[in-house]
Amino acid sequence: MIQIKDLKNFENKTVELQAWVTNKRGGKGIEFIILRDGSGFAQCIVNEEDTSEEVFQIAKSLSQETSVKVTGKVIKDERQLGGFELHVTNVEVIGKSVDYPITNKEHGIEFLADKRHLWLRSKRQWAIMQIRNTIIFSIHKYFQQEGFVQADAPVFTGNAVEGTTTLFSTEFYKEEAYLTQSGQLYGEAMAMALGKIYTFGPTFRAEKSKTRRHLSEFWMIEPEMAFHNNDMNMDVIEGFIKFIIKEVHAKHKTEFEILERDTSLFDTIVEDTFPRLTYDKAVKILKGEEDVDGKNTIDTFENDLKEVKANIEEFIKEIAEKEAVIAGGVKKGKRNFLQNKIDTLKNDIKELEVKAKNIPEWIQSAKDFKYGNDFGGSDETVITRMFDVPVMVYNWPHEIKAFYMKRDADSPMLAKGVDVLAPEGYGEIVGGGERETNLDLLIEKINEHELPMSAFEWYLDLRRFGSVPHAGFGLGLERIVAWVCKLPHIRETIPFPRMYGRLFP
Ligand code: 4AD
Ligand code: MG
Repeated sequence: MIQIKDLKNFENKTVELQAWVTNKRGGKGIEFIILRDGSGFAQCIVNEEDTSEEVFQIAKSLSQETSVKVTGKVIKDERQLGGFELHVTNVEVIGKSVDYPITNKEHGIEFLADKRHLWLRSKRQWAIMQIRNTIIFSIHKYFQQEGFVQADAPVFTGNAVEGTTTLFSTEFYKEEAYLTQSGQLYGEAMAMALGKIYTFGPTFRAEKSKTRRHLSEFWMIEPEMAFHNNDMNMDVIEGFIKFIIKEVHAKHKTEFEILERDTSLFDTIVEDTFPRLTYDKAVKILKGEEDVDGKNTIDTFENDLKEVKANIEEFIKEIAEKEAVIAGGVKKGKRNFLQNKIDTLKNDIKELEVKAKNIPEWIQSAKDFKYGNDFGGSDETVITRMFDVPVMVYNWPHEIKAFYMKRDADSPMLAKGVDVLAPEGYGEIVGGGERETNLDLLIEKINEHELPMSAFEWYLDLRRFGSVPHAGFGLGLERIVAWVCKLPHIRETIPFPRMYGRLFP
């Protein structure tokens, strides 16, 4: 048995595949079967003349998601996704599949989410999971190359890290406990022991709303570095993100094709410097008070709106034309083809209409933004619209940031935090900063945030015994997967998403 991804090494040889039938169409005396085995997809051709009648009948009867053992000769064909196809001589059924619920027609998103255990088998989900895997591997590769030690933080904790409103409470042998929101505090302790560390684990936030970028359980990568300030932190973040993009771009041509993800931006991201904007400057850009390369946010979005409206008009016209052709009477194949196009156009229009509705709201909320507030999702969309590469926003008003952030000695109203906002409307993928080392300021902050001091005594020890400047950040794995794959919603970035209203499957 070989894997589909290795077909290229067996040109003109006879091989055996064990796989599932993902699609099939038949012609006169010939069956085209698309197999998937987890490593890839391959077209198999069963020709009545090359097989026994029995084998041909089996091939003809295969339903979607039947598992099979297939023998055949590997033939080069540039038009195929992997460049090769199989000319079949034998087919055996391993496991039957009757009335597979996910077909090639459009399904509603809630239906697919309910069938997530099966939905994962579809091509698009397969592509996303492959990319997720490479991102995970490249994260380890980067940190290991750079001399970081992976050191994991506990999931059960007695500490709130990122505010008390999103805590999941649980019980730990009758003691009140939480599921961790972030491994950072433990990361700081481990950095004092090991120098440069990174945690890689699940983190939990009770987000009682449905948004396209919040999960209740997500994976976070949190490096923490002793003897680092926030400028050094930003240097690491930039190198790290460029590394991930480079690796994933080099490896996943096929997957990006499946996702119809235009990757031309990736080269720019690897080559260009990421702009570093102070919060003050970012606010000015947001409100249209400061231009970026001679362009102003408000004007840019007004132009975008015009374009969106023009596109909607154009698509409506296209649909009418296609409907007229169908009404004129065409063969079944052609009609299905046109109807598919119409359905796609209608979906596109729906998306554009959402945009047309959102843009004026974004413009208004950008104009109304009050200095000192945190950026909302739409504010991030507006700011990042002006850049092709991720931007790093630093020096934040300390009042909107976590208790542990280092205050700027020169401007005490500011904290040395940094948020990385991904382009193409994605917004925050990384949050981090330099940590407060002044014991008194830290105690003051813990009180101000009304956190129980006793739970933080161990953390304060880090400042009592050989405290050093240190910094770090947290990358949301699913956020970067969503952006890299350009997905409309975070739910497709993780095999089994946990979010408000979804615990199954
Ligand atoms: O900005 P956050 O809250 O920062 C921290 O947790 C810090 N303790 C990290 C650190 O400095 N070590 O979260 C970090 C990142 C966000 O930028 C985002 O990418 C992701 O975690 N994130 C979420 N991803 C999915 N769903 C959610 N509900 C998320 N909340 C945060
Ligand atoms: Mg954040």
